[in-house]
Amino acid sequence: MRRLLAVIIVLGIVVGGAAAFYFLRPINGPERDLSLTADVARGNYVMRLGGCVACHTDLKNNGATLAGGAPLKTPFGDFVPPNITSDPDAGIGKWSLEEFSRAMSVGEGPNGKHYYPAFPYDNYTLMSDQDIVDLYAAMMATAPIAEKAPDHNVGFPFNIRLAMLGWKNLFLTPQRFAPKADKSALWNRGAYLANGPAHCGACHTPRNMLGASDVTQLFKGVRGGTGGAFVPPIDAASLKAEGWDEATLIDALTGGFTPEFDTLGGTMGEVVNESLTHWTDEDMKALATYLLDGE
Ligand code: HEC
Ligand code: HEC
Repeated sequence: MRRLLAVIIVLGIVVGGAAAFYFLRPINGPERDLSLTADVARGNYVMRLGGCVACHTDLKNNGATLAGGAPLKTPFGDFVPPNITSDPDAGIGKWSLEEFSRAMSVGEGPNGKHYYPAFPYDNYTLMSDQDIVDLYAAMMATAPIAEKAPDHNVGFPFNIRLAMLGWKNLFLTPQRFAPKADKSALWNRGAYLANGPAHCGACHTPRNMLGASDVTQLFKGVRGGTGGAFVPPIDAASLKAEGWDEATLIDALTGGFTPEFDTLGGTMGEVVNESLTHWTDEDMKALATYLLDGE
């Protein structure tokens, strides 16, 4: 009996250790070329592609730009997008380009802090090296705000950050966008924007029980998701079935009204106002081309 118990204990340690070893492996993606020349003006545009302002600013309460957003309500708790202004203490002003790149590409901050996927780094990992380098330069040029944002309100066990390393080992694939050779340059630009910086799927793609986007259901819409009570599907088949075409789609996404004169409300209204209205005509055309054609 004693022997059996000893065997079970040893087995338990071995299996538990192997699981920990597997789930807590460090995450490293493809190396980025961070020696590229930065362009702040371009970086400010990338900020609008990425929706950083919409999430990291408390728009409803006229909060200072990028000084911390309204809490994101999720089934796991409330996540407060932190202050990411250039303030050295309350913001990210002390960060190096390498640290910023790691946060965006593998969801890891300085001192090995593992981020929750409420910060959509699973999309940002697709961003190009040039976009990351330019974005960093723009972030360092933002007006510093010295006040920290409030902490998250997340209960046990989700408040254990190390668990996010396990989550990333299960669900994060650090990678860069890979264009499809049989598609046009415009389509590929649209696919890059939608799946990379603009992270449309963060709200429009269903998530599994552990909060990871289910890419087999890309853009299929969510009932009761984090983006609002109902996030409609925006996959090509659904958009066409709803009668959208390139002109109506671009009008709605930049003007905020559907052809039936409904407003795009809630979080989508913020996406329109803080991001899409700032996009170039060419990028809007690329987005519409990709969405209406589909994968
Ligand atoms: C959907 C909302 C959302 C969007 C969009 C978003 N973020 Fe965040 N971001 C968050 C949340 C939530 C956190 C906190 C994550 C955590 O604590 O684990 C965060 C954390 C960060 C951090 C880490 C800050 C720190 O002090 O550790 C950086 C840097 C960051 N975001 C940059 C950006 C940039 C740049 C963009 C635009 C390209 C962006 N974020 C867009 C929600 C968002
Ligand atoms: C923060 C969450 C969020 C993000 C990010 C987001 N959406 Fe939305 N989207 C919504 C919500 C919520 C609605 C429903 C708005 C309403 O009913 O008023 C919506 C509605 C839409 C609609 C209207 C569809 C219809 O049939 O009525 C389109 C089109 C759309 N989004 C496209 C996009 C695209 C393209 C992106 C990426 C550039 C995007 N969305 C990013 C939350 C989001």
